[in-house]
Amino acid sequence: MRVIEPGCGTGRLTELLAQRVGPTGLVVAFNISSAMTAACAQRVKRLPQADVYCASAEEFPFPSQAFDLAICHQVFPHFDDKRRAVANLAAALKPTGRFVIFHFIGSDAINDFHRKADPSVLHDMMPSEGVVRELLGSVGLEVLSFSDDEDGYMLTASFAETSRLRYQAR
Ligand SMILES: C[S@@+](CC[C@H](N)C(=O)[O-])C[C@H]1O[C@@H](n2cnc3c(N)ncnc32)[C@H](O)[C@@H]1O
Repeated sequence: MRVIEPGCGTGRLTELLAQRVGPTGLVVAFNISSAMTAACAQRVKRLPQADVYCASAEEFPFPSQAFDLAICHQVFPHFDDKRRAVANLAAALKPTGRFVIFHFIGSDAINDFHRKADPSVLHDMMPSEGVVRELLGSVGLEVLSFSDDEDGYMLTASFAETSRLRYQAR
């Protein structure tokens, strides 16, 4: 399995993903901050299936249609240009690929936290469900599951055309 992890931070999830995909898989983890990238690279240095880069989700030069999963773990509100980030990540997914947005807290708590935290994240808001659906839909991604409450935020999506073909084949 080939996985993209934007905004990998210090690599807590990167390490788990790399262990899960195993030596035949690939995790491409990246972060806009060079300090975070270095910390992540250090954490996964014994896992050759994890490649770590300093780059943004909006601009990372992915090969097209090469990945099975893009997992945005606690990073989606931080994308400065969400439409561009979604388009870039989606173009890197295979037609059967999955797109995931995941947080340990719900969007109300995320946005409240960012409003009260450092001014650098003051405007880093999780958009409404409708806006996220529209952003994903604009690149052909259809939401498969969505939950957003005090237990966390979890959205999974796949390409609408692939979902339709799978349904017809049943
Ligand atoms: C809240 S931290 C989460 C880190 C990690 N995913 C975790 O859960 O431990 C968000 C990270 O995303 C990075 N980031 C912000 N905007 C980004 C972008 N456009 N592309 C890639 N990384 C970005 C930040 O530098 C920060 O390290």
